[in-house]
Amino acid sequence: MTHHVPRDLLYNFEYDRRLKACFIGAGGHAYRNVYPTFRYAPVDLVALCDLDENRAKGVARVFGAERTYTDHNEMLVTEKPDVVFIVTSYTPDGHVQATALAGDAVRAGAHVWMEKPTAASVAEIEELQALSRETGKQIMTGLKKTFFPAIEKLRDIIDGPSFGALTSISVRYPQNLPAPQDRGNLNKMRSFLDHIYHPGAILGFLAGEIERASYEWEPRTGSSITTFRFKSGAIGQMHLTAGQARGAPLERVEVVGEGSHAIVENGNRLIHYRPSKLPTYGRSSSYILPEDTAPLLYEPEFSLGQLYNNNMFTLGYVPEVLHFCETVLADKSLTKGTLEAAHQIMKLFEFYRTTEQGVTASF
Ligand SMILES: NC(=O)c1ccc[n+]([C@@H]2O[C@H](COP(=O)([O-])OP(=O)(O)OC[C@H]3O[C@@H](n4cnc5c(N)ncnc54)[C@H](O)[C@@H]3O)[C@@H](O)[C@H]2O)c1
Repeated sequence: MTHHVPRDLLYNFEYDRRLKACFIGAGGHAYRNVYPTFRYAPVDLVALCDLDENRAKGVARVFGAERTYTDHNEMLVTEKPDVVFIVTSYTPDGHVQATALAGDAVRAGAHVWMEKPTAASVAEIEELQALSRETGKQIMTGLKKTFFPAIEKLRDIIDGPSFGALTSISVRYPQNLPAPQDRGNLNKMRSFLDHIYHPGAILGFLAGEIERASYEWEPRTGSSITTFRFKSGAIGQMHLTAGQARGAPLERVEVVGEGSHAIVENGNRLIHYRPSKLPTYGRSSSYILPEDTAPLLYEPEFSLGQLYNNNMFTLGYVPEVLHFCETVLADKSLTKGTLEAAHQIMKLFEFYRTTEQGVTASF
């Protein structure tokens, strides 16, 4: 497992080699959070495409793309890009537009970076896996949570010398699960599909493959609590807190080892409780631990115009795009945001669609 260390980045124009890139989609999320990452990535954005020509032209002007298209196939044939970024939306029947677009892009000879959700079913992911094998082109999903510096640090703590094995994990995320009779309808499941990728990515990244799971569901808000056993032997829970306050921090992740644990609150405040002795029971006058075993707190400062305190970095957007670009440039295999990672998340999605509450399902 790679150790995640802070690094100094280059600005886009400082790279010696940049990937010839096309972009499909010029919507809100792409504009706010994906195009801007190219300022720090080896990307030469030559063209972009949106069904809405005005959006395509407007976004191209802001981000320096030379040409625009409204037909992605025409763009792929004409431009012959090394890589294609895809940030699109849903089809009227609730499928993911990007699934088919990713297929077109790899068939046209480009590696693909796409936003989550990768697809709406396990079978569709398997088709993408087969296409990727056939074409030799990689397909990465932007599982941004696995690139949050605080979540990467949790991974390092788990792998570190004093944590022991990961024994249990808890992930809280506000998301409602529709009523059982609505779960067959992809449109009614759209929000769940859109969001299960976030806690699902964290579970896969930190705890690995799921062996079995069961859940309880609450009908007023659609909240749920799922318990897991992972193949590693660890146990876990995912608390989807649909009824929580809307303006509050969304999430909390807690990993527990053997005599040590760590918590990430709100995506970027991390406390690592290192192995320590309980101060003498009934006698100790203070809770202050010796410095070599005291808890470690990590949180960003918000005073300086740094990269690290910008949400392009705290929320993993630049790191995920860099992982993709650097992997392609080095002709290596992706290690994060892989189709295998998306496959497990998709299995989780199908588990909620097909398993009744209170029933344990094998994965
Ligand atoms: N990771 C995150 O933090 C995060 C946050 C928000 C949204 N997202 C994801 O980003 C995606 C887009 O969300 P959004 O809110 O920006 O949607 P949006 O509807 O604003 O944008 C989608 C754009 O794609 C274009 N498009 C659709 N099909 C196309 C095609 N065949 N060719 C060219 N353009 C096409 C549409 O015209 C539209 O402009 C979704 O998959 C969503 O899950 C991720």
